[in-house]
Amino acid sequence: MQTIFKGKHFISLQDWTKEEIETLLEVSYDLKKKFAMGIETPYLPYKTAFLMFFEQSTRTRNSMEAGIAQLGGHGNFLDTSTMQVSHGEVAKDTAVILSRYGHGIACRNCFWEVGNKYLRDMAKWATVPVMNLQCDLYHPMQGIADLMTIKEKVRDTRNLKVSIIWAYATSHKKPISVPLTQSLLFPRFGMDVTLAYPEGYDLPEWAIKQARENAEKNGGKFTITHNMEEAYRDADVVIPKNWGSWVNNQSDKVVDDLLESYKSWKCTEEMMALANKNVMYMHALPADRGNEVEDSVIDGPHSIVYDEAENRLHTAKAVMTLTMGGK
Ligand code: CP
Repeated sequence: MQTIFKGKHFISLQDWTKEEIETLLEVSYDLKKKFAMGIETPYLPYKTAFLMFFEQSTRTRNSMEAGIAQLGGHGNFLDTSTMQVSHGEVAKDTAVILSRYGHGIACRNCFWEVGNKYLRDMAKWATVPVMNLQCDLYHPMQGIADLMTIKEKVRDTRNLKVSIIWAYATSHKKPISVPLTQSLLFPRFGMDVTLAYPEGYDLPEWAIKQARENAEKNGGKFTITHNMEEAYRDADVVIPKNWGSWVNNQSDKVVDDLLESYKSWKCTEEMMALANKNVMYMHALPADRGNEVEDSVIDGPHSIVYDEAENRLHTAKAVMTLTMGGK
């Protein structure tokens, strides 16, 4: 078991070895069990985590803020519109100063071609761990919670048929970070991953190459299709979710002709019927109900979205415990 994590940045799970990810999961299970038993876990007493948000959040903010409190520390929520970064203060200055005040810096910055660079820049200068709360490319907090949820349900993930499927939505032009993170992560755990999307919604070529390499090294599979039905057929897990056409079109306009031409990419009961009879429906949330998915699916017997969202708390606590505490 890997045990040396203190100060390690958590920007992409691709930067963490499989052994480190396994430890992260074990700590998450332990924290979850203790939470269920009402056992206190003050592993980060008097420590401060700065929680910087350039965008809205429900799960990420609250799992981090509740999580650090449950670990005996304090989460300092920072709406970046009230910080000097909104007047142009650079990542270096923010990272150096916050490092002197506390013990961890967590940040959500999803601006295309900006977010990941901002986090990496902070990590270069910070003397405390930098945690990615979602950027334009990665959402490791979501990825680790998703992996935990799948492993809790099936234990052995080898050859598990998991389909990450683009879905129609009009709520906002969502980042590609969730499907990209899942595409890189799941093949490392032997899963048979299908990425399905209509033409125009590609993930970056370098990410597809890495996903294929991850599959090859770890006995998994990674396949791309533009046929939605094919992705649902015989799947054990389906993850139908919208993402924006950022790779091909950097405009932040939400609704355009391309999007409107793929309204039929919705998770319906009819699509679910093509899958394995015990198929699990996952979604990182928030879901665009009625567009991405029918209520009868997300509220139905195959849906595990609330278990998935709950695990955001336990995994967030594990990330903070290992990177901000320990050796
Ligand atoms: N899944 C997720 O990151 O949710 P929030 O945007 O509410 O944090």
